[in-house]
Amino acid sequence: MPHSEQEKTNRIKIAKSFGSASKSYDVSARLQRYSGKHLMTWLPNRHDLTVLDLGSGTGFFTDLLAGTYKQVIGLDISIEMLKFAKENRKESILWVEGDAHKIPLQDNSIDFIYSNLVIQWFEPLDEAITEMMRVLKPGGLLIFTTLVDGTLHELKSSWAQVDEDQHVIDFKTVNELNALFNNDKSTIIEQKCQDIILEYQNVIHLARELKGLGANHLAEKKNRGLSGKDKWFKMTEHYKDFLEPDGIYPATYRLFSGLVVKLNH
Ligand SMILES: C[S@@+](CC[C@H](N)C(=O)[O-])C[C@H]1O[C@@H](n2cnc3c(N)ncnc32)[C@H](O)[C@@H]1O
Repeated sequence: MPHSEQEKTNRIKIAKSFGSASKSYDVSARLQRYSGKHLMTWLPNRHDLTVLDLGSGTGFFTDLLAGTYKQVIGLDISIEMLKFAKENRKESILWVEGDAHKIPLQDNSIDFIYSNLVIQWFEPLDEAITEMMRVLKPGGLLIFTTLVDGTLHELKSSWAQVDEDQHVIDFKTVNELNALFNNDKSTIIEQKCQDIILEYQNVIHLARELKGLGANHLAEKKNRGLSGKDKWFKMTEHYKDFLEPDGIYPATYRLFSGLVVKLNH
């Protein structure tokens, strides 16, 4: 399969994976809520703005944005997510089905893009960044969070002791993100990186949450059947090395927040 065909197939899988999670998503999205709220401090004070929520999911934050800004567009690749959002959020919001790698909006039409925990799914990311900069007005902002390398390191290293398959998606490093956003079209004006450690009663609880977030498309395709169960058990045994004294399983999410401006030329 050509490279770009493979990327398209992956995007369809991601959309399906998120689509099937659209109803359970709002209850399992502890991290999303935290990171999205924490981005709010960077929002512009003016209200007469056109805003794009890129990868709007169930529309929780799109709805909040629509309480402040004149025109709010929620764009997502998953039809099920959009359907849920349309039924549950403010009527004034314009919902658009689309892929961030080919945004169906005009050049220089958006004042700022808000994107919470989405760009880690974009492959290739530079293509999506070119699209984001195309639709932003000169001087427009991209306000985003994403997960970076180090995320789910407990799960990654527990699996690494069992087999050589990839069970956790590849997250970019902070340096890679800086290299991608700092160029002749844009620059990162503020950034923050923090570790958020969520606690789980057991590894199944963690896996359920990743599934509830639709974040399991890699993990799902492998480890089916009996040998899969066996491997899973071994992995959970290794995960016990990270157990906290009170018997709680930690999982690290390395959260990167960035404020990017589209340069004027
Ligand atoms: C983890 S959810 C975050 C949803 C929302 N931003 C929030 O904070 O609740 C990621 C969303 O990105 C969407 N997504 C993934 N890849 C995409 C792409 N290439 N283009 C547009 N949306 C995409 C998924 O369908 C999913 O709804």
